[in-house]
Amino acid sequence: MTARKKPEDLRSHRWFGADDLRSFGHRSRMRQIGYDADDWRGKPVIGIINTWSDINACHAHLRARAEDVKRGVLQAGGFPLELPAISLAEPFVKPTTMLYRNFLAMETEELLRSHPIDGAILLGGCDKTTPGLIMGAISMGLPAIFCPAGPMLRGNWRGQTLGSGSDVWKYWDEKRAGKITEADWADIENGIARSFGTCMTMGTAATMMAIAEALGLTLPGASSLPAADAGHPRMCAVAGRRIVDMVWEDLTPAKILTPASFENAIKVHMAMGGSTNAIIHVVAMARRAGIALSLEQFDALSRQVPVIANVRPSGAHLMEDFFYAGGLPALMKVLVDKLDGNAMTANGRTLGENIARAEVFHPDVIRSLDQAIYAEGATAVLKGNLAPRGAVMKPSAADRRLRQHRGKAVVFRDYNHMAAEIERDDLDVTPDHVLVLQSAGPKGGPGMPEWGMLPIPRKLVRAGVRDMLRISDGRMSGTSYGACILHVSPESFVGGPLALVKTGDEIEVDVAQRRLHLHVSDEELAKRKAAWVAPAPRYERGYGRMFQEHIGQADDGCDFDFLEHGADVPEPEIH
Ligand code: FES
Repeated sequence: MTARKKPEDLRSHRWFGADDLRSFGHRSRMRQIGYDADDWRGKPVIGIINTWSDINACHAHLRARAEDVKRGVLQAGGFPLELPAISLAEPFVKPTTMLYRNFLAMETEELLRSHPIDGAILLGGCDKTTPGLIMGAISMGLPAIFCPAGPMLRGNWRGQTLGSGSDVWKYWDEKRAGKITEADWADIENGIARSFGTCMTMGTAATMMAIAEALGLTLPGASSLPAADAGHPRMCAVAGRRIVDMVWEDLTPAKILTPASFENAIKVHMAMGGSTNAIIHVVAMARRAGIALSLEQFDALSRQVPVIANVRPSGAHLMEDFFYAGGLPALMKVLVDKLDGNAMTANGRTLGENIARAEVFHPDVIRSLDQAIYAEGATAVLKGNLAPRGAVMKPSAADRRLRQHRGKAVVFRDYNHMAAEIERDDLDVTPDHVLVLQSAGPKGGPGMPEWGMLPIPRKLVRAGVRDMLRISDGRMSGTSYGACILHVSPESFVGGPLALVKTGDEIEVDVAQRRLHLHVSDEELAKRKAAWVAPAPRYERGYGRMFQEHIGQADDGCDFDFLEHGADVPEPEIH
């Protein structure tokens, strides 16, 4: 461990400690806010990056939680300053929050860099906020703790539990099939989101919060704490106290994030039955830390780790139940022989030390390795002539018969085409067809929206069909389910093979063999490629233009090329 910092080593000392004109200005403006030298002199300044906003229901409590963090920071002799950042409310931000994940990452990095900040608390949890905040914090390199927003309470409808997303899709199909009434649907709308906090199924939010904990970037147990539990504000206060010490210890993300910690996180993701979206985010976070991860590594780890969290959509329960069952520390305890217990974490102890006392209290919710709900991990990586750089699938959430399947394609050239066709009663489609959606990738969507769980055609829903093989270059919500092959790379918008598929072509999928094959000859594909015309860019100006010019493909983590790990960015000059 490096020697503890001295007050004059603090980054913020450059703003407040010098005897010059600019420092006079900084100090006098702090006094204007109502602070005195006793507030800042010799103290680590902790930036609280807060993704609270009026429109983000998942983060409605983060304004209050920032106060809990401040309480902790003050108790430990630090100086807290709250800095708001883009909120990225998953249900509301269009065309998709994924268009803005890198925006939040840039904002986080530059908020920390441009202000007199020595350490950071990151408040987020709704899907893209976790990777966005962490990517920015990694690139800035200051000590940081991620405080997860935590899952909301279980949904309730007539005494049945309702899960975010998963039960929306389920009952929407029941409504389309005429099995529930408009009044039922209205009651479900009332009961499905009962408190602040993130989606409480194993969606992207729960997955990414768990991954942040497995990486060592949260306090132990923080990711499973329900948002409405009194332990949640206590966790935030502890994080406030701890970050002050982390600054003195100079415990930066670079000292926590190693290939071993990323391997731990991927194994936890697999055991949780986590969202497919996590692959993109983990690749992006690792690359920010200078660690290359390939889809093959995910696949190899997937084969070693069974799904043991019995949480929807792969399982039966919800995140509140997962918390009562012991939470993430208990799950990691079950996996202990597969994890590297020496990995360092934010509280200054190793992962092995943190989980030493953890126990499983409900063995149906957190299963033992020999009672797994799916023998392999959450995400399979498929390759073939349809996806030369890979595609992903969540076989644990798919109908068993579709894990090995060959069928004729029904191709939709974009979302609007799909939406118009899917409700047609004369659509030529059977349960054995393969639905293909083009133009849903990083550049084509744009922003790789969560369109990958294509709706089952209405005439088949009415006939009782609930799963079909679906393929796209988009993503799907972690709360979604079904035989959906996603993230096909390279995407159709840039001329990947997905752009060349025609209705009637045969597609074969074999999950056990990790194979995704388009039964069209190489000669015919070359002919189609030669005739393919690149679509016009989606944006002529603004952030969208920057996005489309710099966004990477899914297997590269969809980061901007200029934000990836590389040369250091200099500290700002103060003149
Ligand atoms: Fe925020 Fe699902 S909508 S986590």
